[in-house]
Amino acid sequence: MEEIWDQLVAYRTQHREVSIKELFKSDSGRFSAFSCSLEDMLFDYSKTSIDKESLKLLLCLAEESTLQQRRDAMFSGERINTTEQRSVLHTALRNRSNNPVYVAGRDVMPGINSTLAKMASFAEGIRAGDIRSASGSTFTDVVNIGIGGSDLGPSMSTLALAPFHDGPRTYFVSNVDGAHITDTLKDLNPVRTLIVVASKTFTTIETMTNARTALRWMRKELGEYAGSHFVALSSAHDRTDEFGIPSDRVFGFEDWVGGRYSVWGPIGLSLMLAIGSEKFSEFLQGAFEMDNHFRTTPFEHNMPVLLGLVGVWHHNICDYSSRAVLPYDQRLSRFSAYLQQLDMESNGKRVDLNGMGLRRFSGPIVWGEPGTNGQHAFYQLIHQGTEVVPCEFLVAANGFEANLSEHHELLLSNCLAQSEALMCGRSLEDVRLLLAEQGIEDPDGNLVAHRVFPGNRPSITLVYRKLTPSTLGRLIALYEHRVFVEGCLWNINSFDQWGVELGKQLASELLPLIKAGDGSQSKDGSTAGLLRTLDLLRRDVTV
Ligand code: F6P
Repeated sequence: MEEIWDQLVAYRTQHREVSIKELFKSDSGRFSAFSCSLEDMLFDYSKTSIDKESLKLLLCLAEESTLQQRRDAMFSGERINTTEQRSVLHTALRNRSNNPVYVAGRDVMPGINSTLAKMASFAEGIRAGDIRSASGSTFTDVVNIGIGGSDLGPSMSTLALAPFHDGPRTYFVSNVDGAHITDTLKDLNPVRTLIVVASKTFTTIETMTNARTALRWMRKELGEYAGSHFVALSSAHDRTDEFGIPSDRVFGFEDWVGGRYSVWGPIGLSLMLAIGSEKFSEFLQGAFEMDNHFRTTPFEHNMPVLLGLVGVWHHNICDYSSRAVLPYDQRLSRFSAYLQQLDMESNGKRVDLNGMGLRRFSGPIVWGEPGTNGQHAFYQLIHQGTEVVPCEFLVAANGFEANLSEHHELLLSNCLAQSEALMCGRSLEDVRLLLAEQGIEDPDGNLVAHRVFPGNRPSITLVYRKLTPSTLGRLIALYEHRVFVEGCLWNINSFDQWGVELGKQLASELLPLIKAGDGSQSKDGSTAGLLRTLDLLRRDVTV
């Protein structure tokens, strides 16, 4: 394994002067050799510096790693989340084959199917107006209260599938900042509002604080009936009971579903309420297709494997520290935020499976915004900055706005223009010619220098027919498995998240000091100073 890493680095060092443009010149079949498809979804990685030899080495790396063994162990329910002794089975939630999946000798499929059926019957009941509010009116609005995986998955997906949204209006509250819940509830009528408290643990402070605020808001109007406007998505039944949510309104799941992988089950209820159970099934089906592809396709044609290898090539071999996810698809505007949790919470690790310090970088920084908006904001840096940022473009061949095809054509041309510009750049000679044509004089070459684009900047593009529920399912599953592939190559546990604990613990220690306005006991000078300043400002005393 180490030998292959070394060979990759050596190969890159020897060939770093070969530009991507030159790779295309020397290989007329480059696009087909460096792209792969699954039905209508095409993944093009030809605009990267990977060539046949480096691809061979990357594939060797994958073969030599524990990827195959850990992939099979994941799908078959082994406890691959070793630091928490848990199976990792979000794939079982979308196992449309219904073949048994065992955890400690017990088939989990019957439980998954019955929860899904319970969700569908509840969602359809609300959508059809058969399940009504305490006062007998239909539920017109749903507020999902959750954070992290209990928010990002359903909120990103509900926005992504807006053209299929024919259920109640759906809102998402995540931030403990009172502004979030205030602004969300202010125009809603409690009589017609259903509150969905989404929290696997039912202890997350942000969610529970928002849920209690929502309960008070509901009680003002409905008094003792407030509880009947609440639903819980949680595996902590004792705590949902304590909160007063009737057990038939609790949708549970087990500890083998990680928060950031949980949209496929009960945490997806708000999405199901929005688009209906049939479309939700299509969403699961799409993910299931990607799972099958990942499980059975040889690595050289396997989309998540190749996407992971491209990521490793850029991050570890080319030393690029971040990746930008740039959907040319407005409805995927929360996709980068979603991926930030999926990728950075999973692979932001500094020790390997054995607790040993890593010898190379693990997860990169993931960021991004919808394409054309980004063009008018941060693309300057992407094109001409000193940092090389591998870009990941996502685009649908067709939009939903049939009467606005002109918009979609502009979107497509912008997307393709960006990856072309990144790769081809604009040379000194071309800029000189351009200035001359425009009659602009530049005797000391200053203007020319500012207008040169270095080019040779890598990007990948994912193209799909249309952003349907099944396409979205495939897309999310693709990125989930990519994260898994990269985690295997780095030999880390992608399924725990100990890094979020310390801040939570310190926040609870600081809370009494904030309440008391007391900075004297805090552990460091800066925190003490900040506490004192905040206390003065909170008491309206001039600092
Ligand atoms: O941020 C840590 C985390 O545990 C995430 O992994 C999870 O998605 C989020 O908090 C919410 O947790 P819960 O669903 O238990 O409220």
